[in-house]
Amino acid sequence: MCGIVGGVAERSITNILIEGLKRLEYRGYDSAGLALINAGQVLRQRRVGKVVNLEQAVNEADLMGSLGIAHTRWATHGKPTEDNAHPHISGPVAVVHNGIIENYQELKDDLEALGYVFTSQTDTEVVAHLVHDALKSAPNLLKAVEQVVPQLKGAFALGIVHTDYPDELITVREGSPLVIGVGIGENFISSDQLALLPITNRFIYLEEGDIARLTRDSIEVFVNGQPVERPIKELDATVSNASKGEYKHYMLKEIYEQPEAIQQTISQALNGNTLRDDFLKNADVDFSQIQNVQIIACGTSYHAGMIAKYWFEQLINLPCQVEIASEFRYRTPVIVNHTLYVCISQSGETADTLAALRDTQKRAAEKNIHIATLTICNVATSSMVRETHHSLLTLAGPEIGVASTKAFTTQLAALMLLVLKIGQVKQSIAADEISSIIADLWHIPKVMLDTLQKDKEILRLSDLFKEKQHCLFLGRGTEFPIALEGALKLKEISYIHAEGYAAGELKHGPLALVDNDMPVVILAPQDDMLDKLKSNMEEVQARGGELFVFADETSGIKEKDRQHVVLVPNVNALLAPIVYSIPVQLLSYHVAVLRGTDVDQPRNLAKSVTVE
Ligand code: G6P
Repeated sequence: MCGIVGGVAERSITNILIEGLKRLEYRGYDSAGLALINAGQVLRQRRVGKVVNLEQAVNEADLMGSLGIAHTRWATHGKPTEDNAHPHISGPVAVVHNGIIENYQELKDDLEALGYVFTSQTDTEVVAHLVHDALKSAPNLLKAVEQVVPQLKGAFALGIVHTDYPDELITVREGSPLVIGVGIGENFISSDQLALLPITNRFIYLEEGDIARLTRDSIEVFVNGQPVERPIKELDATVSNASKGEYKHYMLKEIYEQPEAIQQTISQALNGNTLRDDFLKNADVDFSQIQNVQIIACGTSYHAGMIAKYWFEQLINLPCQVEIASEFRYRTPVIVNHTLYVCISQSGETADTLAALRDTQKRAAEKNIHIATLTICNVATSSMVRETHHSLLTLAGPEIGVASTKAFTTQLAALMLLVLKIGQVKQSIAADEISSIIADLWHIPKVMLDTLQKDKEILRLSDLFKEKQHCLFLGRGTEFPIALEGALKLKEISYIHAEGYAAGELKHGPLALVDNDMPVVILAPQDDMLDKLKSNMEEVQARGGELFVFADETSGIKEKDRQHVVLVPNVNALLAPIVYSIPVQLLSYHVAVLRGTDVDQPRNLAKSVTVE
């Protein structure tokens, strides 16, 4: 999704803006641009494609300036062309924007009637003209922006500069993330703090509705024209600066980081084979009152939620529903007293999940229904973490690859901890069962390391996929969501059409697709469903399908003609989905590399989907 970087300093900030945009590349974008204010002029360059194209243009034009804004655009309104790339200019005003201005068409009609000429098809350009126009009556740039914001409908974050205000950067947060990076004698903005980590570790997290004016030495934040205080938070120095290191792609690095990420995530909650007393304690939610769980999430995070449903119901007898946020938010679901709403999100900023959360909280308050909310998230400072009663952090470190890997498996570990915690409080699970599951959880990083050793075998199998057009993933029980996740990974990064199915559904449709040319991936841990799964494998083979089986080493499943087997170390069936994520991730990764796709930034996709 789109990214914003901006700053005001004494030195020229051209390189800071370009480096900041590069650090946002992982989010997915299709064009980039930058504008600097210098000697009463707006100096702008924009390019389609990667940030290096912009960098080259900026270097050739020798652009310098100590006040500026920059942007990576992921097209929503209008194609990815140079004219549609940000910043957009109206006379002395330049604007970058994330999000969507929903009423831009009517605003555009009004502005055209006033004589403003539009040079792009974007919704953003209206903001530049509106600010330009507001300055005819407003006493200064800040006041002009304050007049414009109430006219805009939708979700947005803005960075605005003006040639007559060479030491002033105005920024707005209204439904789209925006942080201020606090420097010494210089200040910055970005839609993602990651962009600013090389220059500062001190941040102000703006709240919805905030408008801020930054100069070199001051930061003022206003709500409805009144100054407000926003604390400066210092980020832990351990927040990694995210580099690929020895790996060819971030995705591969992140796959390999999983054992450590799981270890970190569970360590925060455990004391030997028991849950720490202070784990999820210091909040105003009494888990003993919880009667239902409703999980809301998107994409890979939704698959984590699907697995947790099995755990909540099987282990602690607590009813659990899971729904994708983009449906949940628009269908007026019944809000039931004593329900725990769990948002699962790597970023904590996904527009649909956030909107579903806010809408639920609002409706519950209106109807006086008692609910609790909790976020499982990888970004401690995100909107979701800040807006729910509880948060449970996945300590996976920054995830850069668009296809989620370590965030997913750490979400699973966190969800298991949550299930055990609620079960303990509600006394719906025996203490020795908790200890035994925790002992198995501690063992998971080692099992994951052993599974990663299978990388070369998986690479060999990948070669058989590279020419395929379609692929089926099958699993049962908690491996069904892993089948969905495997199919999602493969389609996201290799562009092979893939479907995940519950193996028991095979006869109800997908069997019709099976022929000589259809690879079928099977997830076969040692669990109660193994025999049934073996029958499903027979059904596929009888129709000429080629099987690629990730099977428990004790499963008895062996290599044979058109049946390729990679043995996975034996693991507690309950926790198997964490481990079986690895082979499907590696398979997708290698197939994508063999097909020559852009693994870390697949076409048309974004890391953090902050617009609908
Ligand atoms: C995008 C990403 C996925 C991610 C999904 C939900 O589609 O490409 O990897 O699973 O958003 O994101 P979240 O940050 O809420 O987990």
